[in-house]
Amino acid sequence: MCGIFAYLNFLVPATRKEILEILINGLKRMEYRGYDSAGLAIEGNTKDSDPQVIKQTGKVAALEQEITVTPNLDMEQEFSVHAGIAHTRWATHGEPSCLNCHPHRSDPKAEFLLVHNGIITNYKDIKNFLAKHGRDCESETDTEVIAKLMKHVYDTTKAKNHSFREIVELTVQQLEGAFAVAVISRHFPGEIVATRRGSPLVVGLKSQSKLTTDHIPVLYSKAASTTFAEDQRGLLTAPSPRPDGDDLTEYHAIGPHREVEYFFASDASAIIEHTNKVIFLEDDDVASIKDGSLTIHRIHRNVEDSTIREVITLKMEIQQIMKGNYSSFMQKEIFEQPESVVNTMRGRVNFDNNQVILGGIKDYIHEIRRCRRLLFIACGTSYHSAVATRQLLEEMTELPVMVELASDFLDRSTPIFRDDVCFFISQSGETADTLMALRYCKKRGALIVGITNVVGSSISRDSHCGVHINAGPEIGVASTKAYTSQFISLVMFGLMFCEDRISMQERRREIIQGLKNMPEQINEVLKIDDQIHALAQELYQQKSLLVMGRGYNYATCLEGALKIKELTYMHSEGILAGELKHGPLALVDKAMPVLMMVTRDKVFAKCMNALQQVKARHGEPILICNTGDTETEAQTEKFISVPPSIDCLQGILSIIPMQLLSLHIAELRKLDVDCPRNLAKSVTVE
Ligand code: F6R
Repeated sequence: MCGIFAYLNFLVPATRKEILEILINGLKRMEYRGYDSAGLAIEGNTKDSDPQVIKQTGKVAALEQEITVTPNLDMEQEFSVHAGIAHTRWATHGEPSCLNCHPHRSDPKAEFLLVHNGIITNYKDIKNFLAKHGRDCESETDTEVIAKLMKHVYDTTKAKNHSFREIVELTVQQLEGAFAVAVISRHFPGEIVATRRGSPLVVGLKSQSKLTTDHIPVLYSKAASTTFAEDQRGLLTAPSPRPDGDDLTEYHAIGPHREVEYFFASDASAIIEHTNKVIFLEDDDVASIKDGSLTIHRIHRNVEDSTIREVITLKMEIQQIMKGNYSSFMQKEIFEQPESVVNTMRGRVNFDNNQVILGGIKDYIHEIRRCRRLLFIACGTSYHSAVATRQLLEEMTELPVMVELASDFLDRSTPIFRDDVCFFISQSGETADTLMALRYCKKRGALIVGITNVVGSSISRDSHCGVHINAGPEIGVASTKAYTSQFISLVMFGLMFCEDRISMQERRREIIQGLKNMPEQINEVLKIDDQIHALAQELYQQKSLLVMGRGYNYATCLEGALKIKELTYMHSEGILAGELKHGPLALVDKAMPVLMMVTRDKVFAKCMNALQQVKARHGEPILICNTGDTETEAQTEKFISVPPSIDCLQGILSIIPMQLLSLHIAELRKLDVDCPRNLAKSVTVE
């Protein structure tokens, strides 16, 4: 949900053209986070000249085009120190327009310019306050108040000679809600200050010489004030210095006066082409770059807080975030699944001795086994992975298993107890609803287990223990390979949970054998892509598609219908076949496209009944059935065969035709597969 990117070069000469290219490329890598509009701001030609702000509605390509027609941009001008910020927007407050597009400015002279990801919930109060001081906002966004408040702080505390960082600190203390911001100012050329609370922010460090440190200490700010609030006369009271603040000795992360480049981004994948050395900022960290040195300050000192921020070396490869020869990231990610599921199991499943060890939760497994119940909380596709594995987890753990949509879980203020174990499943690890549900459960003393894909994400860091699904970067907005890897991660958890139960050993062996065959069987399914393309040609002009099934395949119906909806904009519903006669059967007639999952498991006979009920109403369902099951194939003219697996793993294979079908229908409808309208990959707002 919105992506921010910033770049600062220090003693590394760069032309304006190069700086703009770096900013644009950074935005392109984060376009999946929002693509309603894009904008950037770069410092002016000289210390005193105006910064340049370029904005455009639509995708980053439109901004790139806008740059080519912007007057007075000397592309060859070289800068040895220069700061720039950029943003790609998913609109929350205000329509996608140039006025609402970031960067937002503090005033017509653009003394402060900033980009923001998140939502400021008290923006109306701040707006009113600013209006009383003659500082009216020009956009409909919540973001603009931050820029205006920053200028207000600057103007009203001039006598105190605050640093750029202190001004930002004093400002963000007034904000409620979630934010990651990066700010530049004409008063502080060659500097960037960035901070976060609730929205992700990563700093990338690139040096011409070897980094001299693997961590950076956290300092505490003197200028921070807890009393900087509106007083009775409607004025902001002056900040009072904190007596326990650290000395503001700058700490040189890389070494003074070396050639360095810094990057800030909402997601490490935007940085990886420049450097693999990153620092994941924590909530309330204020990172500031001045004279080429990075410092991280905090306002509030909590005893349990770490006093350092590690410089992490990312293992991600640049190829992982490139599209290669595929038509879209989604297609690439679907076809990566034979490999991504192997990566999920690598080093965890021992196929020789049937052992499953998840290193990230092994120290907690005894505690988990003693719990009162297991809760799996997530949104969208990640939620479907929990629905897909619930039955197996109930069988393996013999515990009550609750599967919850994060938003609904919070709306109900669901009771949570100290002896609950709560799993939070999230590809991005940043989904606001899931993250809030996590904090809600943590506060009530439950054990928190994260199941995430993005290393260093908020959910992975806020969990007591967890599993990285290792699916590799997922860039297409519609989740595909993350789903199958989440599915397998939850199966592995079930297998690990019951490793000592004698009665389970035979079942465990069968499942582990099923996992071993999975990459090859996924390959088999991918080979029928042409057949699915032909089916897409028959369906792409339809208005609706019903997807029916039951048992282990119910989740496949929900997930398949979600893929169809979000990619093709067709109406689609995942229907539990057992519920058919309680209402949905009324939708069925000769004209209604229906897809049914009928694979050989315990509910096969019941699925066959449902099939007969649909056929009796002149429905002509397309079946997803098992290869070689001629009895089922004979029931209908159209079918897609997937290799048979053990019941609880069948859903991994039967979702792939649905992923391919939605991809092909979307392409036939000439829609943007990687960026479906109105959506974004990382949903960091409620
Ligand atoms: C659908 C899709 C979404 C996400 C949901 C949760 O294809 O991608 O439904 O699954 O927004 O996102 P994460 O898993 O990042 O928490």
